[in-house]
Amino acid sequence: MVDLSEYKNQTFQQFQISTQQNQATIQQVQAILNKTTQLLPDKLLLNFVETNFMKGRQILHTIGGHLTPCYLFEPGVIINKAKIFKRVFQQRLPETGFYFAMKSNNFPDVSKTVLTCGFGLDVSSGAELETALELGADDIVFSGPGKTAQELDIAIANNAKVVVLIDSFTEMKRLEKRAARQGKKMRVGVRLTTEPNGLWRKFGIPKEDLAKFIEESKKYKYINFQGIQFHSSWNMTPDRQIAFIKELGETLAALTPEERLMIKFIDIGGGYWPEQGEWLQPAGTPQGMMRNALGASLNPSSLNPLTPSLLNPLTSSSLNSLTSSSLNPLTSSVQNSSNYLPNTSGNYGSAAEPYPHYLNPSTSIETFAQELSSAICDNIHNQISCKICFEPGRWICNDSMHIIIKVMDKKYDDLVITDGGTNAIGWERFETDYCPILNISRPALTERECLITGSLCTPHDVWGYSYWGKDIQDGDLLMIPGQGAYTYSLRQHFIKAVPEVIPFP
Ligand SMILES: Cc1ncc(COP(=O)(O)O)c(C=O)c1O
Repeated sequence: MVDLSEYKNQTFQQFQISTQQNQATIQQVQAILNKTTQLLPDKLLLNFVETNFMKGRQILHTIGGHLTPCYLFEPGVIINKAKIFKRVFQQRLPETGFYFAMKSNNFPDVSKTVLTCGFGLDVSSGAELETALELGADDIVFSGPGKTAQELDIAIANNAKVVVLIDSFTEMKRLEKRAARQGKKMRVGVRLTTEPNGLWRKFGIPKEDLAKFIEESKKYKYINFQGIQFHSSWNMTPDRQIAFIKELGETLAALTPEERLMIKFIDIGGGYWPEQGEWLQPAGTPQGMMRNALGASLNPSSLNPLTPSLLNPLTSSSLNSLTSSSLNPLTSSVQNSSNYLPNTSGNYGSAAEPYPHYLNPSTSIETFAQELSSAICDNIHNQISCKICFEPGRWICNDSMHIIIKVMDKKYDDLVITDGGTNAIGWERFETDYCPILNISRPALTERECLITGSLCTPHDVWGYSYWGKDIQDGDLLMIPGQGAYTYSLRQHFIKAVPEVIPFP
């Protein structure tokens, strides 16, 4: 027989738990909505726009309108960035090694350029490894999970040039077998996972297993264990890397002196965010994401620019002082700028005023170098003297490529179609990220609202919700600067062909 009072009790308890959970969720939602994301400072934005308009003038001069859509590649930017990156760390650490993460931009000339700066290459597949070898790289680290036998074979055949950063015990065993077939000894490191829970768990082994890994490596004839790698992504500050360096220090302390002596390098990975920070559309902020997740009908103030009727009305404005005629981008000064304030004209597209842009701030590479080096000295070099290696990708290549597209069809004053689709960047980046779109055919330091789309048969083919310029007309050339990281590598042959790359000296 069912005990009714017990059943009632259980049901009541479950109800209480779910009510508590709902309340906790509501509080979390409220906390996110109550937070504010920093607005992108005018000065930073105008500086960026002005500098790139100057470049835009040279671009017009060099390529005219002949080859759009295209990526413009500036090798000079790579050289400059690579030199700075090396210098700031070399100044502070006794022995260093630098490896450009090819995945961040796999245009071969990017890697070719970085090789001339004394960098090695960090590759994550057999295809990348083959490219690196074809480019003449002789100092390569091969990292990444699930390396195939064929990929390992290429590394083994080139064992004088390649260090394999092993991802698991299974991979070490597989590498031993393959290396035995070629009779070649491999220099290896092991990747330690920085987050034992969640999606990042798939990378490397837990730090608690390091001693076991080293012990096991000694049993293998063709494995020469030499180092440790870790990597964390999207670091706006060095805090997470420093936290792991401290954990690594404790892990090293637990090894035997002989094991510590085996460690010739520690590779602290990439993930250094460029100093300008992450620029966001309203929909890319935590608040915007939350509003969109809650659904537009619940959120009349939703800031998703894809739904213009729901836009927060924007005021007309202060930027009028930056009239196009007074603002020749080549002569004007950012001092003239005034703040972007949300405004109230209520017109999407026709007003000369954009919705707000946001900033997730980052840190200078000098600060990264200073703080990381000091953490390395305190936690690693106090126990072992070894080479410290770096695998920067985004920081090196972000500013080295720009996308140039042409206006094909001005459908309305507030909507244009361009000849380039976002297959050139491979993801719906600009629905959440903000990058100023510069009308280099009609430059002006005025931002005007206009939906700038590509020509793919999808409504998500969006470049942005505004442009900088006097006006916009069919045939105008638009520049989307700073698209060198995780765009070219992610390009897709989807509907339209992948654009060509034009070197721009
Ligand atoms: C192992 C490893 N190293 C380096 C990088 C480069 O990171 P970033 O381009 O953020 O510097 C990545 C990126 O995913 C990576 O997975």
